Amino acid sequence: MQGTIILKRSDIENLIDMKTAMNLVEQAFRMYAEEQAVMPPKVYLDFPRGDIRAMPAYIKGNVNMAGVKIVNVHPENRLKNLISVRGTTVLIDPDNGVPLSVMDATFLTALRTGAASGVATKYLANKTVKKVAIIGIGGQAQSQLQALLIANPEISEVAVYDKTHESAKTFATKNKALANIRAHSDIKECISGAQVITTLTPSRAPVLTKSMVGNGVHINAIGADAAGKQELETEIITSSAIFVDDWNQASHSGEINVPVEEGEFSKEMLRATLGEVIAGTKKGRNSADEITVFDSTGLAIQDIIVSNYVYKAAIKNHGKYSSIDLLS
Ligand SMILES: NC(=O)c1ccc[n+]([C@@H]2O[C@H](COP(=O)([O-])OP(=O)(O)OC[C@H]3O[C@@H](n4cnc5c(N)ncnc54)[C@H](O)[C@@H]3O)[C@@H](O)[C@H]2O)c1
Repeated sequence: MQGTIILKRSDIENLIDMKTAMNLVEQAFRMYAEEQAVMPPKVYLDFPRGDIRAMPAYIKGNVNMAGVKIVNVHPENRLKNLISVRGTTVLIDPDNGVPLSVMDATFLTALRTGAASGVATKYLANKTVKKVAIIGIGGQAQSQLQALLIANPEISEVAVYDKTHESAKTFATKNKALANIRAHSDIKECISGAQVITTLTPSRAPVLTKSMVGNGVHINAIGADAAGKQELETEIITSSAIFVDDWNQASHSGEINVPVEEGEFSKEMLRATLGEVIAGTKKGRNSADEITVFDSTGLAIQDIIVSNYVYKAAIKNHGKYSSIDLLS
């Protein structure tokens, strides 16, 4: 019997690309809305300087794969030249519990998070997107840029901002062949005229206020993924159409968690989940003027569907990758 396949980041980078990830993540959201996936909310273990999360899911149907991702968030790691968000996934055969693969989930976390923003933008933004702005230029930024460029082929301007201006400048220089990209030292200038804004900071105080955001903008709020984090002023949440990836996770740890905790936002005010919009059971944007917000907390189904793809691609050529019999 084939052992448990070990897949390193460098293996994985050659087995999947962003376009594929976007199709898979869209499929996972749809299947979850159609109750073809089982996913308890992620479990957090807090430390003084960060946390780890355990994220299990089982996707039924033609995917038929289960697994758990363990991922940390340590925002101060960047100061020590360590990655802030690093993950490992164990894929489990749902038919017999055998661990099929242990793989790095650092690249895949960024890939599937970018893919979710790309899919949300495709379904929720206004049709013509010429300028996008990205706020918070750390480990997640590259895949977010990639996904936005795929979702909006008409983009002619990318604006980036980070509280450490050097990070935004380095990123803009690195990506100048991909897009007309500019690093801004003023956040208002950065988002001015943008039809899509993606926020990627671990901030616990709003980085965007209502007065900064124009009508018709779509916001991908990605950074808030733990209790107490908040990137958007509560007034943005209460005056926009809010779409979450999952109510249970978002109300506890997503962009809406602080407004929910403070009694400013409730389930009745939610427009829909992204999966419901994809599955066609709920409507997306109501008008060109409406501000839409995708509140992403990151779902285990996203991790399992991309890991399953990578695993299936690897076993086609399994002699190339190391495997171990964990019971030996
Ligand atoms: N929703 C999801 O699925 C998902 C997935 C992965 C990461 N995340 C979250 O996204 C956030 C970013 O992750 P990362 O891996 O890029 O982290 P990172 O530490 O690599 O980068 C964060 C960047 O944000 C900048 N920043 C912090 N506060 C800021 C502010 N107030 N204004 C502007 N810039 C600011 C930092 O200087 C840094 O460059 C984290 O909160 C992480 O937990 C969410």
